[in-house]
Amino acid sequence: MSGAESTAAVAIDAGDLPMGGGLLALLRPALQLLEPGGVLAVNSLRDGLQDDLSVWCKVQRHEYLGHDPATGADASTTTRHLLRRGNLSIAQGHRETDMRLASQDGRLSAEQVLSAVPMPQDADATSGFAPRGAQVEPGGPRYPFDLVNRDHVAPPEVARLYDQAVESQWDANRDIAWDQLPSHDPDLERALDQVFTFLAENELSALYVPSQFVARIHPAYAEVAMFLSTQMADEARHIDVFLKRARSGGGGLGVSSATTSQSLLTLLELTDFTEAAFLLSVLGEGTFLDLLRFIEDHAPDEVTADIVRRARNDETRHVHFGQVHVRHALAHDTSLYQRLENAVRRRATAMAGAGGVPDALQDGLTILAAGSTSPPAVARGHDAFRELLDEMHRNRTKRLEHAGFTSEQAQTLSELHTPNFM
Ligand SMILES: [Fe+2]
Ligand SMILES: [Fe+2]
Repeated sequence: MSGAESTAAVAIDAGDLPMGGGLLALLRPALQLLEPGGVLAVNSLRDGLQDDLSVWCKVQRHEYLGHDPATGADASTTTRHLLRRGNLSIAQGHRETDMRLASQDGRLSAEQVLSAVPMPQDADATSGFAPRGAQVEPGGPRYPFDLVNRDHVAPPEVARLYDQAVESQWDANRDIAWDQLPSHDPDLERALDQVFTFLAENELSALYVPSQFVARIHPAYAEVAMFLSTQMADEARHIDVFLKRARSGGGGLGVSSATTSQSLLTLLELTDFTEAAFLLSVLGEGTFLDLLRFIEDHAPDEVTADIVRRARNDETRHVHFGQVHVRHALAHDTSLYQRLENAVRRRATAMAGAGGVPDALQDGLTILAAGSTSPPAVARGHDAFRELLDEMHRNRTKRLEHAGFTSEQAQTLSELHTPNFM
């Protein structure tokens, strides 16, 4: 026996377990607690275990150091075997031995988990779906994740926003007072139904666009995929509730315009995650906050106002995530400003000739704001619609400045934004 005995970092009591009868379930986890080169002592009552251990160590590329009688109470019957952990065949990284998440007021948030298990700067594509912090056995396949850099993918606020999103889920089936929806004048109802048709179409794009990025995000940044899954659940609910509203007043769905269709295709075709977050969430969903506020302010009944208010609360979170994502990425890569500007310009070029705000939507919003089809009311509705466009432009400019663009750039980019709003 070598002098390794005195340096054994971990010892296990193996009783009389044989190699093929459970001993490995004690042996393998104990070896994982050691650094490569560390020594494990196995105290065993079993005769002849040295042969089995020595063969197993050879196969597993560990080193069997030898054995001698143990000291202590059972010294007469116990044998102490010493094994040195090899470099291979054992998962990489350290076991989370001291990991004990502490709840606060009985709660355990994703934000607490993130601070206990920080995201790595870069992620290894061969760790596959291994959760962050797991020990990864070498030899696994490469996965096709290509969003593998924290600075481009994962703003630190993401876990807090995920916690908020989970807590804020609501139900379009149960939580809306559908039985209290009043009847409206058919012209006003048709206007409302057109507006909700437009909203639902845009919500469909807001569901599909992020879904394309989820499967590309490395699981080391799982909170980003988890947040996007809540965003997608929100959008599914918005589609559901808006279509239900459009079909609850006697009018049914309205028109889907070619302008909207062209605009949403340019979103769906984006392949860069940050460009998509910028165009969809900062500019598109940001503009929708003003649109939803307008509809809420002019809603002819409380049920309709409640639907839009709930959606706006969700959208506020989506815009917030888009903003922190883009700001975080810009802070680490200043060349991104130019890329984002180019993305807006490319989209404006693709939209050239598509016209202004879709006619059916413009008419619907005008009648909604008018509240009736009497000419003086329609004149007021028309003015309100023009004010909405100005308000959208002002707020979009502010959001762009907040992201770090100069006020001149912000003006230009806001003016180039799609007439479809999203
Ligand atoms: Fe939405
Ligand atoms: Fe959204």
